[in-house]
Amino acid sequence: MSMSAKVIIGAQWGDEGKGKLVDVFAAQAQMVARFQGGANAGHTLWVDGKKTVLHLIPSGVLHPETQCLIGPAVVIDPGSLISEISALQSNGYLKDPKQLKISDSCSLILNFHKELDLAREKALSDSKIGTTGKGIGPAYEDRAARKAILLSDLFNPKLLREKIEASLKEKNILFEKLYSLPPVKIDDVMAQTQSWAESLSPYRCTDIGRLVQSALDEKKKVIFEGAQGALLDVYHGAYPFVTSSSTLASSAAGSIGVGAHQLDDVVGVFKAYTTRVGSGPFPTELKNEIGDYLQTMGHEYGSTTGRKRRCGWLDLVALKYAIRLNGMTSLAIMKLDVLSGLEQIGICTAYKYKGEVTEHFPPSIEALNSVEPVIEMLPGWKNDLQTLKSLEEFPPEAIRYLGFIAKKIEVPIQIISVGPERDQTIWINPIS
Ligand code: GDP
Ligand code: IMO
Ligand code: MG
Repeated sequence: MSMSAKVIIGAQWGDEGKGKLVDVFAAQAQMVARFQGGANAGHTLWVDGKKTVLHLIPSGVLHPETQCLIGPAVVIDPGSLISEISALQSNGYLKDPKQLKISDSCSLILNFHKELDLAREKALSDSKIGTTGKGIGPAYEDRAARKAILLSDLFNPKLLREKIEASLKEKNILFEKLYSLPPVKIDDVMAQTQSWAESLSPYRCTDIGRLVQSALDEKKKVIFEGAQGALLDVYHGAYPFVTSSSTLASSAAGSIGVGAHQLDDVVGVFKAYTTRVGSGPFPTELKNEIGDYLQTMGHEYGSTTGRKRRCGWLDLVALKYAIRLNGMTSLAIMKLDVLSGLEQIGICTAYKYKGEVTEHFPPSIEALNSVEPVIEMLPGWKNDLQTLKSLEEFPPEAIRYLGFIAKKIEVPIQIISVGPERDQTIWINPIS
């Protein structure tokens, strides 16, 4: 069997540092394929002091020799994608359009999907999901309802108009009757779509899966890039506080269009603590000065919406659930440097639920809202970790913290990230 297909997945509620890690691995890969989600994702890369934030384009794009693919299960906001492409090009990246291939079968997010997303959230008021407002839910709904506008439709103006017209017939009833908003006019939508076909035409691809399969047959290295995180999965997260796609490793193959047996390695990416953006249960959340400390030191603001991320201790119950859901074969711990300076560091090893102690994550909001985390406190360290290059240089307390995690999760930790830059990444002999 080839050992060339690696899936990189977030093991928490998103923003674990997947983008950074994909960029690091992409130096050795010939292909990076994004397989789900949309511009709700925000993946931040730092290279030589320069920041790049990606939403739709795979995080391998800063390596000119690495081909970047967007699979059919990704929902595309063409305006956002075109701006991302232009921003990359004006920074000297993506010079050769052949570097990026986008499936003709991707569903499009039009303005009315975003408006519907926002209108629904507003109507939910206090029970809102806290979505990114990027139209993700409405676009996936249309896909499942077989009403999605596809990327290929942009190249058939007559069909495009007919499909949008049909979509607006339903959507305008919602806008007018349910949300008391003005109806969307077909001509306005068509006007927005006008320049998109020309801008996106160089990147079209009818079958992304075939490209990936050929690469695998030629023993090339392919990375499947996840967005969001395991705990935001539409089926296995705490519904309804989830995103609208399947975020798990197992959906990487199916979404792209290759056989599941070809995924060799599943790398789980997790932060040394936990964050969450938006609403929903978060058992280890710290609504105190320590939470504020993590938020400030970790610069925990959403890359897509700028919202403050909620912060809390590392939750091993949730992490073990993510490991199981994805079949993670190795782990990367990110942002360990952010913990420097804390007297003590908490780590959740179990939940108390209905008087019992459990190590199993209950994926229901009723249960998660009432569990009480069992927190063990470990000694912290003062040293700055950002300049360290090998595990031997780490303070003993940091090694103890890593050893404690490794022992509980039983999957080897192979990478420690101590800063946002590429070279602040340490490969270690697996701690387990
Ligand atoms: P993603 O959505 O999983 O790609 O993660 P985001 O990019 O949304 O959020 C991770 C943030 O942490 C980004 O701003 C990264 O630049 C930053 N980051 C990644 N790894 C590290 C690390 O090890 N230390 C520090 N201090 N920052 C990191
Ligand atoms: P990356 O790839 C963190 C969250 C939203 C909200 C819920 C549903 O950067 O890790 P949606 O807009 O998808 O309908 O919102 O999911 N969410 C994310 N949180 N990182 C992300 O992506 C996210 N994408 C969606 O905050 O709680
Ligand atoms: Mg992010």
